[in-house]
Amino acid sequence: MEWTREDRYKGLDFISEEKYTQMVRRVEKSPWRQYYHIQPVTGLLNDPNGFIYYKGKYHLFYQWFPLGPVHGLKYWYHVSSEDLATFKNEGPVIYPDTLYDSHGAYSGSSIQIDDKLYVFYTGNHRTKDWKRVPYQVYAQLNNDFQIIKKVPFISGPPSGYTEHVRDPKIWKNQDKYYLVVGAQNDNKKGRALIYQSKELFEFNLLGEINTGLNEFGYMWECPDIFRIEDKEVFLFCPQGLEKEGNKYNNIYQSGYLVGNFNYDTLKISHDGFNELDNGFDFYAPQTTLSADGDRILIGWMGLPDTEYPTDQYEWAHCMTLPRILSIEKNQLKQRIHPDIFKLRDKGIKETFKLRNNSREWDLIEPGRLEIDFSIKDNSSERITILLANKVGESIEIDIDFIKNIFQLNRLNSGQLPSNQDDQRRSVDLGEVFSNMQVFIDNSSIEIFINDGSKVMSSRVFPQIPYSQCQIKVEKGNADLEVNQYKLKEG
Ligand code: FRU
Repeated sequence: MEWTREDRYKGLDFISEEKYTQMVRRVEKSPWRQYYHIQPVTGLLNDPNGFIYYKGKYHLFYQWFPLGPVHGLKYWYHVSSEDLATFKNEGPVIYPDTLYDSHGAYSGSSIQIDDKLYVFYTGNHRTKDWKRVPYQVYAQLNNDFQIIKKVPFISGPPSGYTEHVRDPKIWKNQDKYYLVVGAQNDNKKGRALIYQSKELFEFNLLGEINTGLNEFGYMWECPDIFRIEDKEVFLFCPQGLEKEGNKYNNIYQSGYLVGNFNYDTLKISHDGFNELDNGFDFYAPQTTLSADGDRILIGWMGLPDTEYPTDQYEWAHCMTLPRILSIEKNQLKQRIHPDIFKLRDKGIKETFKLRNNSREWDLIEPGRLEIDFSIKDNSSERITILLANKVGESIEIDIDFIKNIFQLNRLNSGQLPSNQDDQRRSVDLGEVFSNMQVFIDNSSIEIFINDGSKVMSSRVFPQIPYSQCQIKVEKGNADLEVNQYKLKEG
């Protein structure tokens, strides 16, 4: 189906309940539905929004276009959970139903003030001649997660910036509130702006974050600033970086600076920009504090401007699993959140050694598997691990022990998304490979390498899920200890 602009700006009120329910049923039965990842009931999911632990539960919202697998009129869809493993669909919360979010309730964040929940987001408005006007909006929610009121508190871009000003992330530092928003300046360079509020909800523009990265893409989306121990981390998604060897291979990037942020000068000291994820499908992450005070990150396991094999079934994309962030020796580490281990089926764990032989792991129900690999002994310069299903599709992992390069190859993994010519992604480990933890769902693989030093998240669209696969060491003589866990339904 060709999606015209008119089609893309139709909302839920355009279709009857009956038609919507039929669509939900069709999507439920379609191939490649995930078992333990957040995915849309219909249509397209993109950025995680408003992620918060509030009154004993996690709440996550996501950018949602209900009517098809394309970017159109965006809503916020709400999911909730008592832990970070099993989320429940709650339904849409922010509808694009005012003048200032008429063309989409775009990305943003949540904050608890006293015992109330507020969301801050960008209202995307288009004039009759299709000129974009961004509004920064806050909304208060009641106990049933319905919007009580919406207030546009910043109208249009500040002077010196184009219409691309969006994605407010709010936080409190000492007795003041801060907002960081992604922006593009009049010279078409990506920037992030900081606003401050002493008295809610009046925000004053303090200025740009001074990163020193003045020529670093044409737009920065989805910024986030937070503290871990004595450091600040600034996450953002620059668009328009040129590929540099193994770096910046996806259409847009997501990465971070680690250092110290000075609230007076707005300068962040750092040792350079690092990518958060070196897989094929990762963008627009957001963080929040967990019930235990850990910094948790969830990302969109997808990319803009890319068609995916599920599009033909009227849905697209999912979230990554939640990760805990920590800083060790000035390096950001990302580990799977331990709540995910609750999904392990205690009865089904198998440990074995792998050395140029194969193991088959056959689940009765496809879709859920964790495999942990660790090197016990290695005399080879290179090993290749293949996850192969019965119809000859495979995911190939290649580890170069001389250059310390880890490569993921999905060329032969099944159907492929558009717009990603090279089906290999490589990452410089900067240290010897020692272990990886792999999470497989019906249509995704997430690999945490060397205790979370690097992560690779990718969608895969095989005929038979990789939870029913053989694991082979094709080349090399390494002794690998492999633990496999079947996971319970999420
Ligand atoms: C990032 C993004 C955000 C925007 C949202 C719209 O993927 O482009 O900048 O708020 O998606 O859906």
